[in-house]
Amino acid sequence: MAPISDKLDSFFPMLLYTQDELGYLTDDAIAHLAKKTELTELEVRNVISYYSLLHTKPLGKYHVQVCTNISCMLRGGEELLDHCKQRLGIGHKQVTRDGVFSLEEVECIGACSWAPAVQVNYDFHENLTAEKMDKVLETYRK
Ligand code: FES
Repeated sequence: MAPISDKLDSFFPMLLYTQDELGYLTDDAIAHLAKKTELTELEVRNVISYYSLLHTKPLGKYHVQVCTNISCMLRGGEELLDHCKQRLGIGHKQVTRDGVFSLEEVECIGACSWAPAVQVNYDFHENLTAEKMDKVLETYRK
């Protein structure tokens, strides 16, 4: 059997596509994907846990991922996360009551040159301040 690293090029998009269809990676989907790819469910879950884009629980319609890794931390990422928590009334990996937003603190999202950066679903928002973040959230709420 080929090592999992040989399968990742095609496996990651498969996970992402499944998540886009279902909203998150359900236990049934993980079992199905494991069987189809001849991996164990544990191997599938290990891949899922590595990528902040992949989730095994329902998210809000707009998933707000705030980077607090080094570049973002130095430019206010942690304060931005605290601002989002306060503004949305939820904490890390929680969903607002209306299901519109979920929030997650994440490691580097590859936008270090424009820190602090936030990813909402597949959109990036950079060089953020609390005021700019409020506008971003308001845009999605509308
Ligand atoms: S450290 Fe935040 S995007 Fe890289």
